[in-house]
Amino acid sequence: MSTENIKFAYWVPNVSGGLVVSNIEQRTSWDIDYNRKLAQIAEKAGFEYALSQIRFTAGYGAEFQHESVSFSHALLAATTKLKVIAAILPGPWNPVLAAKQLATIDLLTEGRIAVNIVSGWFRGEFTAIGEHWLDHDERYRRSKEFIEALKGIWTQDNFTYRGDFYRFSNYTLKPKPLQQPHPEIFQGGSSRAARDNAASVSDWYFTNGNTVEGIKAQVDDIRTKAAANNHQVKIGVNAFVIARDTEEEAKAVLAEIIAKANPEAVNAFGHEVKNAGAASPEKEGNWAKSTFEDLVQYNDGFKTNLIGTPQQIAERIVELKAVGVDLILSGFLHFQEEVAYFGEKVLPLVRELEAKKLAKAA
Ligand SMILES: Cc1cc2nc3c(=O)[nH]c(=O)nc-3n(C[C@H](O)[C@H](O)[C@H](O)COP(=O)(O)O)c2cc1C
Repeated sequence: MSTENIKFAYWVPNVSGGLVVSNIEQRTSWDIDYNRKLAQIAEKAGFEYALSQIRFTAGYGAEFQHESVSFSHALLAATTKLKVIAAILPGPWNPVLAAKQLATIDLLTEGRIAVNIVSGWFRGEFTAIGEHWLDHDERYRRSKEFIEALKGIWTQDNFTYRGDFYRFSNYTLKPKPLQQPHPEIFQGGSSRAARDNAASVSDWYFTNGNTVEGIKAQVDDIRTKAAANNHQVKIGVNAFVIARDTEEEAKAVLAEIIAKANPEAVNAFGHEVKNAGAASPEKEGNWAKSTFEDLVQYNDGFKTNLIGTPQQIAERIVELKAVGVDLILSGFLHFQEEVAYFGEKVLPLVRELEAKKLAKAA
């Protein structure tokens, strides 16, 4: 088991409607004032990262969306320790714009920006904004080239690259970003193509919520391939956290979220995400096996089962760490209140359990 503490990130609610496709009350707002305060609460609570989302159109909720890079910068300006991960969609962004924009933000924020390269799943969005819709594996091939180019621009002078999607000749970015060797690069998915990119170019692999066994299978596959490529990658897993003083209360909240789910929106979302991993040659991927209930949370966050008392949740997190997870990406119903509760009640228990495990191992 890693000797490093497991890290915590939260989803930035920079799109409207919260993180569940349900009519249950969500005391979460997508506006900047709410989000600045949330970021301050989160860094005080012990969260290391915040992940903002990139969306260009509405769909299944998310009627209004703030752009991810500019929103991330605003959160960085409101905090002092938190790292903010800006999401970028290759296509609207090309690597040189991303490299320049993020290097500047890195320099303006004492080296606290990171990036999530999104391969895309939402065909309607691509069509609406005039982007070519590539086949599943082609989207990941483009992301791989995007990441290689980003790293090249950030770390080399006279960068030259000959890919199928991107070409550079003798390009030198000045100034380079503050973080060395470069800001961290995250990338998400579950499909073979997503895992292969993680095992070759990304610093971090994000995946949808899953059982401990499901996560272990992905971690083992990625780490084996990464070792063969002489590449190091860390793993982050999504979870929708429902932490309450009693297990009954937590389970009742989950039941209410599902009972108040919007079936039309959930089913339409389920149909749309078949464009993701289920459309890949091996038909695996983020939502390939998701049930109706799973899809009520956009990234299968109930499956990770961080639902219960602080003690139950802390134990579960340490189990995930034991199979190789480095970071928990968490979503909440009422973000400000629940991030604070998580920091006060769950996080100290995780640190205690981690310390006990390490002492036992020694
Ligand atoms: C943690 C996480 C965050 C993601 N953030 C975004 C996002 O902000 N915008 C977006 O369009 N897709 C986002 N995605 C979707 C992925 O980039 C990818 O398109 C999707 O997971 C398809 O995976 P698959 O090919 O393995 O099925 C995210 C995925 C994960 C796991």
